[in-house]
Amino acid sequence: MTAPKFTPRVFSGIKPSGGLTLGNYLGAIKRWVGMQGPDFETIYCVVDMHAITVWQDPEDLRNGTREIAAGMIASGIDPTKSILFNQSQVAAHAELGWIFNCVSRVGWMNRMTQFKDKAGANAEKVSLGLYAYPSLMAADILLYHATHVPVGEDQKQHVELTRDIASKFNHDFKEEFFPLTEPVIDGPATRVMNLRDGTKKMSKSGESDMERINMLDDADKIAKKFKKAKTDPEPLSETLDGLKDRPEARNLVDIYAALSDQTPEAVISEYAGAQWGRFKPALADLAVSKLAPISDEMKRLMDDPAEIDSQLAKGADKARAIAEPILARAYDIVGFIRA
Ligand code: AMP
Ligand code: TRP
Repeated sequence: MTAPKFTPRVFSGIKPSGGLTLGNYLGAIKRWVGMQGPDFETIYCVVDMHAITVWQDPEDLRNGTREIAAGMIASGIDPTKSILFNQSQVAAHAELGWIFNCVSRVGWMNRMTQFKDKAGANAEKVSLGLYAYPSLMAADILLYHATHVPVGEDQKQHVELTRDIASKFNHDFKEEFFPLTEPVIDGPATRVMNLRDGTKKMSKSGESDMERINMLDDADKIAKKFKKAKTDPEPLSETLDGLKDRPEARNLVDIYAALSDQTPEAVISEYAGAQWGRFKPALADLAVSKLAPISDEMKRLMDDPAEIDSQLAKGADKARAIAEPILARAYDIVGFIRA
């Protein structure tokens, strides 16, 4: 249970390690927009320090950071309602991250499935940062005493680890200092799948561009990608149950549901028994109508990088104002001398 002494506060982040995908939008950003308002303080971060756990060309990293920030703003993250910044401007992330490297156990890191997937057979050659990544992610969250973390399904294990780190810190130092943060994983699109293989997640870095929708894709590209999306030859079923063993079909129904703010049940009842020749163009039209205004606005924002940088700098000032006192208390608790 989250102790009531913690103000309801949301933290979440996206890595600038490539362009934004429809998975990022439906699984994360669209839901973050909905959490802005009176119930929570909302803090959203472009996690550039996480991006460099794998090689990033410096110029691409700078541009990618601005692109993610532009995508968030264009999607409705309002820098006057939320704190929006890039991680490396707030040094306290790295500082608390170090303390958490000393709280976390190697065995905990060894259980992280994302690390195992990314490192694969190459575990000896990947960066030490990639291995310690979940401990920095815990620092991102706990530096703000965040109570809620909206993420896609793939991040669930990392948020659970964050709770383990908070518990161990609180236990070791005998003080209920960090909250036990709740992951918030809800809606029809917590795991948007690859358009060419319904058993794999849609990701920024998959090998073929046809397997994902990028937020900057134009209308023709979006239509083409949905038209070529892999499906089975059967028409849509009458009920959701009928899609149980049809991951590609289920994925397209879930995407339709998330884009149109409906449940997958409502979508399948509207399109019960429909052929792909009817459903795919309807999905493409829906996607274009929702995404085109966002990508137009993203392009407009990206034409003025100085303005994006200035928004990120203002956000970083606000983030520091929350983070620094919490880091200072953590230093006192650990026994570090401060002036
Ligand atoms: P990343 O691009 O890995 O930094 O992910 C940023 C956020 O987007 C995280 O909350 C992820 O869980 C979410 N996300 C990324 N890909 C997907 C996907 N295919 N489906 C749902 N959520 C996703
Ligand atoms: N690890 C997350 C991802 O790969 C990104 C991330 C970093 C994050 N720090 C975070 C998400 C803190 C939520 C909260 O998608």
